[in-house]
Amino acid sequence: MGKVIVFGSINIDYNILINDFAKPGETVLGKTYLKNPGGKGANQAIAASRLGARTMIFGSTGQDADAQMILGNLNKNKVDTSHVQQLQHINTGTAFISLSNSGENSIIVIPGANGEFLVDDRMSDIITKLLKPGDIIVSQLEVPVDAVTKIGKIALQTGSFFLLNAAPATQLSDELMDLVNLLVVNELELSTIIDRDLTSLEEIENACRQLTNGKREIVVTVGSSGCFVGTNDGVRHFDALKVNAVDTTGAGDTFVGCLAAMLAEGKSLFSAVLYSIVASGLATTKIGAQSGVPTRQEVDLITRELLSKHPRASAGNI
Ligand code: RIB
Repeated sequence: MGKVIVFGSINIDYNILINDFAKPGETVLGKTYLKNPGGKGANQAIAASRLGARTMIFGSTGQDADAQMILGNLNKNKVDTSHVQQLQHINTGTAFISLSNSGENSIIVIPGANGEFLVDDRMSDIITKLLKPGDIIVSQLEVPVDAVTKIGKIALQTGSFFLLNAAPATQLSDELMDLVNLLVVNELELSTIIDRDLTSLEEIENACRQLTNGKREIVVTVGSSGCFVGTNDGVRHFDALKVNAVDTTGAGDTFVGCLAAMLAEGKSLFSAVLYSIVASGLATTKIGAQSGVPTRQEVDLITRELLSKHPRASAGNI
């Protein structure tokens, strides 16, 4: 069984509960706010660990109380934080998340220490020694893209598997794209990468096929419409789990973390996707990016129920 090694952002989230989003120039009264540990990298690491993978995170924080809070939560969830750089001159990253009554969110991230995450020669040596074939490397784009590209190159050299969650949305260089084994994006991120508006599920499916192009596997998540999985054999659609969502913040991160954990266990991509659909669906039923991440037991139970309702499906043939 491989390890999951996450390279990514570590933030403190301010979840601001509102009725409706403010329009430009408008002032609205919010209901309350909560302070929670977050950051796409940290959320994904916690999800991978809670789903059963031996997990480690590389990232940067300040040396402040926020860092203590988030590192404490990572450690509590059995994520190895021994390689997190704690920088003296800068604050821990912060995210301001407006969360509406309908469970939708909009997020502004101030990168802080995440923006100074570096993969220098010393760090490259440490990572190279740690990685073994079968390990899953996970990254996102809230840390500098140069560092992410270096990590992709180390993954290639060491025979590890490189999963890139291209969030927040940005265009990707061919150099980085060619290093990626599995790309996970939502429809907005996909649209940014291919530089084209995607206005229907059919267009999303076609764009997924176009980007897969025999070079990499792709998962495109489409919220309550489920996800598309692009492989060499074509594109396949999976339905979302039916839940009463109260907060979608971090649901994509739970999806990615669970996917990495299942792939590290040796599950097939389709099987891993099914587990991730369940895990991310459950994650939306609680407020907060990390507090909603379900346990392996909860995910196993619902995945088995789903499989039993579809007699032709089994973890082996999905
Ligand atoms: O994906 C959700 C995360 O995005 C939040 O936890 C926030 O910190 C931002 O990084």
